[in-house]
Amino acid sequence: MHICYIIAMEAEAKPFILRFGMKETEKYFSPLPCRLFQYKDTALNSTLSIVTLGRQHERDLVGCEAASVATLAAIERLKPDLIINSGTCGGWKRKGAEIGKVYVADSVMFHDRRIPGDDEWGTQGLGNYSVWKRSTDIATKLGVEMGRVTTGSSLDLQPCDEVIIEREGGELKDMEGAAVAFVCSLLNVPILLIKSVTDLCDDSAPTLESFLKNLKIASENLSEANASLLKLLL
Ligand code: ADE
Repeated sequence: MHICYIIAMEAEAKPFILRFGMKETEKYFSPLPCRLFQYKDTALNSTLSIVTLGRQHERDLVGCEAASVATLAAIERLKPDLIINSGTCGGWKRKGAEIGKVYVADSVMFHDRRIPGDDEWGTQGLGNYSVWKRSTDIATKLGVEMGRVTTGSSLDLQPCDEVIIEREGGELKDMEGAAVAFVCSLLNVPILLIKSVTDLCDDSAPTLESFLKNLKIASENLSEANASLLKLLL
């Protein structure tokens, strides 16, 4: 089995890369900025790949465009059996979220693509992509809750986005999940999303400072959860 993780930021991927002693294949996707780290277990006949989005303007790339490019390149070049989008997200205290809490997604959609017109345009805008059918079973075995992930292009939360998130029952807010799922839906590759909370949207507004402060703990919790997840899958 070939499992390919799509992880936005190096800080989110680092504990995981270190834990598995993964090696980078330099410039594998060149000239695209995304980076490939791999670990091959010949005994188990399995390959684990991590694709990070790379950097531009002296910062790790985040967001839907970079996530789509990386996912497309990863699927075309690596032909994985499963894509896992692992990363951080915002949550809501009143919906049970806590800093560092890990979730598996039960569904994923966009929250900031308002396309006026008919139902079909609205449906395309919001996406609503399916997750891997084993997601529920995996969440149960990992002992983590499931949540509805909604994706947008901004770290902050605008009132017009909140209207859609509330209407659609969104619980976890990220910047890549639906973009990764969109590409997977086009290419018929199953996707599982695993997320950890770095900020609480109904506590104080997410700032870069609060995000960075919580990034380390969320990434470590994700790394633990991913290690258990891989034990289940491989
Ligand atoms: N990633 C971590 N926190 C986030 C938030 N509040 N919104 C979008 N993406 C995030």
